[in-house]
Order: sequence, then structure tokens, then C-alpha cells
Amino acid sequence: MKQNIRDADPAELLELAVNLARRAGELARRTRAEAIGDVATKSTATDVVTAADQAAERLVVSALAELRPGDAVLGEETGASEGGSGVRWVLDPIDGTVNYLYGLPGYAVSLAAEIGGQVVAGVVHNPVTGEEWTAVRGRGAMRNWEPIRCSEVTELGMTLLATGFGYAADRRAHQARVVAEVLPLVRDIRRYGAAALDLCYAAEGRVDAYYEKGLNAWDHAAGGLIAAEAGLVVSGLRGAPPGPSMVIAAPAAIFDALHALLVELDADGGP
Ligand code: IPD
Repeated sequence: MKQNIRDADPAELLELAVNLARRAGELARRTRAEAIGDVATKSTATDVVTAADQAAERLVVSALAELRPGDAVLGEETGASEGGSGVRWVLDPIDGTVNYLYGLPGYAVSLAAEIGGQVVAGVVHNPVTGEEWTAVRGRGAMRNWEPIRCSEVTELGMTLLATGFGYAADRRAHQARVVAEVLPLVRDIRRYGAAALDLCYAAEGRVDAYYEKGLNAWDHAAGGLIAAEAGLVVSGLRGAPPGPSMVIAAPAAIFDALHALLVELDADGGP
């Protein structure tokens, strides 16, 4: 039966997202040894896609086509497909592909559901640690089904700040100039290598805040909702929504200071 927007209940979309993220994550984890021998490159020689990114994406996309045939899908590896239902799924089959390649545990499946262009449900599932962060808009955020809240930090100088870097050398050079100015002003910097996990770590206060330029929707759709539902302000710069030019996730008490610093440093400028 063709689905339409009236059928879309965010809690049910989350249930399906969790089921698919677990299956995709398990596939990636189980097949890693073979998958990392089958690697192609994307935007640069260091921007890789493994056979597991593609297989995990195929698993989710084909299950959605069968279970919710009217929905649109935006996937990191296969791009956009249209649908008429008003629901769109946003998928990163392996966020943290370089960690995956090197056998580091910091990678995750990120899957979000939008209704009418707004993210309403999201899951970030790490198949190595078994950690699973979820949120439904307006109903709070959870890790492994326990409610989580962001940090209560009140000073930029006491902020443990996560960030990340793009793949292109000229963009990285600009990001390095910005982070060199930020580092003396915060408690410390963390670079874990998976934006979806950075956002979930901020959501539960493992880091206080996060910013990054250059993210795609699949990197931040699910994690951004989880962070916002955990109490963080999730935004771009100068009132823009979170997007390719900037994603900031910060507790309200330090948001203005971090935002002002990033504006001053032209963090969304450069290549
Ligand atoms: C990347 C990771 C990384 C971030 C990059 C992303 P990928 O996603 O999230 O932490 O710094 O901007 O592109 O390539 O592993 O899916």
C-alpha cells in the first residue's frame, strides 16, 4: 500500500530506523575484513568508500523501498531518490569511514526521517560498542533507551570542544587556522572522526560542544536532532540553520560565546 504523510508517525519511523540501522551496522561490522580490501575514493584520495558503505546503504535503501515505497531517500553513497509521501530518509551508512578502515571503533550508521522537510526521528548506531542514540522530535533524546542531557558548562574556557575536518587540503588549511585560534580559548579539542558520534557525545555531555564546517545532511540529520533533543542549541552561523557552511551544537550558556568566536574567525569562510 502506498504510504502518505498522514501515515507517518515519528515514533514508528524511529522504530523502523533503529531496526535498519542495527542491521546495516551489523553487516558493516561483520564484513569489515573483506570490505576494507575493496576501497574506492570520492572527493579526494583520502575520502574513501568501502564495499561495506555501499552494501549497508543498499540494505537500508532496498528495505525502505519495500516497506515504505512512497518515501524519498537521500543516501551518502547513492544520492537522492524522489517519493511522494512527504517522508524523506537521510542515511549515512558508515559515518567515520576512515575509522572503519583503520579498525578504530568510532563509526556509526546514521539514519534520520524527515516529514515535510523537518527531521522528526533519528538514530545513530555504533555496531562496535553497541551504543545507540535515538530521538523523536519533542520527546527527548536517549542512549540505549535511557534519557540523556547535554553538559551544563557555562564558560568557553572550560569547554571540551569536538570538531572535524573536511577531506580537501585547502579546506583543511582554513579549518586548521580556525582551530589554532580556538584551542587556547577552550579546555581542549577532540577530533573523533565521525560527525554523527560527535553530536551524540555532545548530547550526553561526553564533550561539551561541537562545531564543524562542510558537513552534509547525512552527517548531521540524526545526530543534530539527538543533540537538540538533549538540550543543545543546534544551529549554523548568523541565524542560519545547521548546514554545509556550519553546524554548531552547544549548550545555551556558551552558545553565544562560541558563535561569536567562530564568526570572528571566519570559520564558515574559505574554501
Ligand atoms: C566524515 C566524518 C568526519 C567529518 C567529515 C565527514 P564520512 O564523514 O563525519 O568526522 O569530519 O566532515 O565527511 O566520510 O566518514 O562519512
